[in-house]
Amino acid sequence: MAYDFIGKVILITGAAGGIGAATARELYSLGALLVLTDMQQEAVDQLAQEFDAERVLPLALDVTDAEASKRVVQSAVERFGRLDVAFANAGIAWRSDPKTLRICPTDEFRRIVEVDLFGVWNTMQAALPEVIRNQGQILVTSSIYAFINGLVNAPYAASKAGVEALARALLVELGGTGASVSVVYPGWTETAIAKIAFGGNDLATRMNKTVLPNYLRQPIQPQQVAKAITQGMRSRRPRIVVPGRWTPIALLRGLLNPLIDRYLQRHKALQKLLRELESGSGAGS
Ligand SMILES: NC(=O)c1ccc[n+]([C@@H]2O[C@H](COP(=O)([O-])OP(=O)(O)OC[C@H]3O[C@@H](n4cnc5c(N)ncnc54)[C@H](O)[C@@H]3O)[C@@H](O)[C@H]2O)c1
Repeated sequence: MAYDFIGKVILITGAAGGIGAATARELYSLGALLVLTDMQQEAVDQLAQEFDAERVLPLALDVTDAEASKRVVQSAVERFGRLDVAFANAGIAWRSDPKTLRICPTDEFRRIVEVDLFGVWNTMQAALPEVIRNQGQILVTSSIYAFINGLVNAPYAASKAGVEALARALLVELGGTGASVSVVYPGWTETAIAKIAFGGNDLATRMNKTVLPNYLRQPIQPQQVAKAITQGMRSRRPRIVVPGRWTPIALLRGLLNPLIDRYLQRHKALQKLLRELESGSGAGS
């Protein structure tokens, strides 16, 4: 039976960002009650102004804070009486310039994993009792980086692969409870986080153009991701790949990845750009 959104209480982390806000709008239009969370209270307050105050609870939440994540779930239950769905969506990438692992400072590696992997775990852990009680859903935003080569984006790719592994394990562990788990794999989407590879950083942009065929390089709009998410949620789809052009690669990754890695490893123009990137940055700690 299709999952009905009317009256369902849905928590979104990173709700003020591109994909979070677009998904919030989509879910709101389908009748959900929303717990909108992000780093800054003002950012979620601003988003909440688009909606009927009765149906929305905007709260500041840093997903790296496990106790604060539990308090947010508690507030959601106090306000709406229940929590049905947690969408663990908050994420970050490099602070500024992209780096290879050779020059990646440990504190930056740790910061990315802290938000992108531990942050998802904190949200999941806080929401699970309610989600199970209400036979609801856990959604996590992974990325195509869970299955493509993560060159010059390794802490992010490692986190997104970790998020996928976490969610797949949970999916099976929740078997028979009536609750479900979905992994969202967006391709490049026009939001703040993706700017670095689309003009924000010259070398990252050139690398993208050097190794990716044009059809895979076109960013999509967050609204397209949001639509795919709500469609996937309706049928509790375990994997939501968007746009569809990434689906064959997602499905055939076991066969394709060794070939692609080998191709990239021998790609002379790519190697030149990688050395250029490394020579332009300081050594990591
Ligand atoms: N845009 C893309 O190309 C793309 C592709 C694949 C996956 N994703 C993933 O989609 C998710 C949403 O990203 P987006 O594209 O909307 O980017 P975005 O930068 O617009 O949104 C990310 C949001 O997360 C919030 N955030 C960052 N650190 C946080 C923390 N510690 N606690 C709480 N919130 C925090 C930010 O304030 C921001 O509002 C991320 O997990 C991202 O990795 C994005």
